[in-house]
Amino acid sequence: MLHLLASQTPDPILQLIAQLAGDTRAHKIDLGVGVYKDATGATPVMRSVKEAERLLWQAETSKTYVALAGDPAFLRAMQRLVLGDGFSQASVAAIATPGGTGAVRQGFELLRMARPGARVFVPDPTWANHLSILKYLRIETVPFRYHDPTTHAVDIAGMLADLANLRTDDVVLVHGCCHNPTGADPDMEGWRALIDVVNARGAVPMIDLAYLGFGDGLEADAAATRAISERCPVVLIAASCSKNFGIYRERTGILLTVMQDSAVRDRTQSALTHLNRQAYSFPPDHGARLVTMVLNDDALRADWQAELDAMRSRMISLRALLAQALEEATGSDRFAYLTRHRGMFSRLDVTPGQVERLRDEHAIYMAPDGRINVAGLHADTVAPLAHAVARIGI
Ligand code: LMR
Repeated sequence: MLHLLASQTPDPILQLIAQLAGDTRAHKIDLGVGVYKDATGATPVMRSVKEAERLLWQAETSKTYVALAGDPAFLRAMQRLVLGDGFSQASVAAIATPGGTGAVRQGFELLRMARPGARVFVPDPTWANHLSILKYLRIETVPFRYHDPTTHAVDIAGMLADLANLRTDDVVLVHGCCHNPTGADPDMEGWRALIDVVNARGAVPMIDLAYLGFGDGLEADAAATRAISERCPVVLIAASCSKNFGIYRERTGILLTVMQDSAVRDRTQSALTHLNRQAYSFPPDHGARLVTMVLNDDALRADWQAELDAMRSRMISLRALLAQALEEATGSDRFAYLTRHRGMFSRLDVTPGQVERLRDEHAIYMAPDGRINVAGLHADTVAPLAHAVARIGI
């Protein structure tokens, strides 16, 4: 039977991990997978998380199951983090999921269950795995214009024109902040215009919030998600704790559904809980427990926010350093857009052939579409990257 299986195309981002591991050049630079690295190139366990782990190790007396939807304390703490304090419990249904990817998958499963045949409008470009999961679930996707390669900003007019083709109950996938792979987000005016067209068409926004706190700070990064949640009748939010708590391998995420009609809340909660049971039964708890402890303890939370702020500031200063180094190396200011982007990612205007040359000739690894993970840089690698870019004539 297994001989009937076809080989699957490996994920282009995850392929880089294996390629990089096999490269013995000491000066190799990893700008591939979206994992935060500090100035020494390490991805350490955050101080606040380590302390929560210590406390948990002392206090935890049982590993028995918690709840199919996940620990209610985790769901509440994350709801407050994402939506702020003003939301009523009655209008939100939620499940804990294995990572942000689990939340994205369960969000698509929910929409397939609620509205078979609904299409998902996806920004062009978007995270490759969005498209892969949608294809796997046989959900029709419709790309909408998002990134303008000449300005490196969001093509608001193109986006709104394409979203005018939405039909009732179609879903619009957006990145709540720190767009992956471009680093370009709409401004608040752009978000408001998006909300208007989505509401006028009777469509449903689904927000992927994987980098909360990596852009301009926790509150600023949540602003678009909160505006959408306040003004749209139904909203799906897939939030990840992988990056902002640095707990990648613990697989910690949440799917929140926010609805104005509280009469459908219990049905939605029951559908979400059912989806967890069908997929993996109880969601992972360890990472969720650490997140809850950090968010609910004043001292741990303050320390976590300080650590997160330091990570964010480091990425912003690396952007400025890189733009300056590229200006010096190429004699052109056309890379200034890097400083206007937020989060881990931006794209260089490279062809796939140039990406290969950067890898083969300079040991610099980036995604095939030219996406770089800014957090993969440090003081000693900014100049070599800029010189390599100049040398291959980007
Ligand atoms: C990325 O985009 O690099 C991350 O979200 C990691 C992943 O799973 O692709």
